[in-house]
Amino acid sequence: MLSPQRVAMPGLPMSVTIWEVGPRDGLQNESSIVPVDVKLEFLDRLATAGLGVIEATSFVHPKWVPQLADAEELLARLEPAPGVRYPVLVPNERGLDRALALGSRDIAIFGSATETFAKRNLNRTVDESLTMFEPVVQRARTEGMRVRGYLSMCFGDPWEGEVPIAQVVAVARRLVGLGVDQLSLGDTIGVATPGHVTALIRALTDAGVGPDRLAVHFHDTYGQALANTLAALQSGVTTVDSSAGGLGGCPYAKSATGNLATEDLVWHLHGLGITTGVDLHALVRTSVWMAQQLGRQSPSAVVRALAAETATR
Ligand code: HMG
Ligand code: MG
Repeated sequence: MLSPQRVAMPGLPMSVTIWEVGPRDGLQNESSIVPVDVKLEFLDRLATAGLGVIEATSFVHPKWVPQLADAEELLARLEPAPGVRYPVLVPNERGLDRALALGSRDIAIFGSATETFAKRNLNRTVDESLTMFEPVVQRARTEGMRVRGYLSMCFGDPWEGEVPIAQVVAVARRLVGLGVDQLSLGDTIGVATPGHVTALIRALTDAGVGPDRLAVHFHDTYGQALANTLAALQSGVTTVDSSAGGLGGCPYAKSATGNLATEDLVWHLHGLGITTGVDLHALVRTSVWMAQQLGRQSPSAVVRALAAETATR
């Protein structure tokens, strides 16, 4: 079968926004550095496949993430597709200056629910990182930019183990208090399970951060990402992060593997009768092409199942 039979399930949204993170979360974790021309073609193919939000790159320190050190060249050469958003990651004011110089209108800051990951990823404590983000959000707001906040290690941390829901809620409230439009809940190492997702979203809602302001960001290390997505949708979330072909990980989080694959997500959502605007076959062809560029197969079950059949369509 080339597409799932559509059978709706009560209590789910009519449409979902897919926040594609492959070019950023995916490529930041590749051992090789992907040429800018390949990245540009990747961005172009993703837009053509119907993805409306494509996280393009990061303005972080190039020594920390050399895979994305070409952010300036990439954005300068990018020809934005009409109506498509291209958010970029920005950790500090230096990153914001770089993004503004390239005409970015859409940024994401990225915090951590745990101290160990804050230190490893940002060289800051949780408090210090929030202090670092404050002027970034303020200035971006003054410039009329959109600002997303990520919160990593919401469901478990490779160094600290279990992360209490109350701790996640406390940092989430502070990030939201800075003035971000949306908060994306990161399962950075893919350990969440559906009951945990439901409980966290309920606790955030009780604390005044409802599902309309949330997105979910599941890595698929333990194969739980789709089950977790369904739990999030049932809790009212309508923005889901994923990466084409299941590329991804985080260079500063041991045991983080790829994100939920966009193709697996699209199959799941379309089967539930939920609109995404994505052409699944065009997307599979993109991931097959990207896998050839990277010299290894995509881990996505849907890409593998459809690769041969979509090649000629
Ligand atoms: P630091 O070493 O503490 O930096 O790193 P600093 O503030 O002390 O500055 C040191 C030097 O770096 C200075 O230069 C700055 O100008 C320069 P000098 O004056 O010495 O010549 N510098 C920069 N240069 C270019 N761009 C910048 C920048 N900032 C400072 N933006 C820093 C602090 C935040 C910069 C560093 O820790 C960093 O870049 N971290 C990024 C790590 C990263 O990108 N991780 C992956 C993304 S997060 C993720 O994947 C999780 C997510 O997917 C969600 C999930 O799965 O949970 C989002
Ligand atoms: Mg991630």
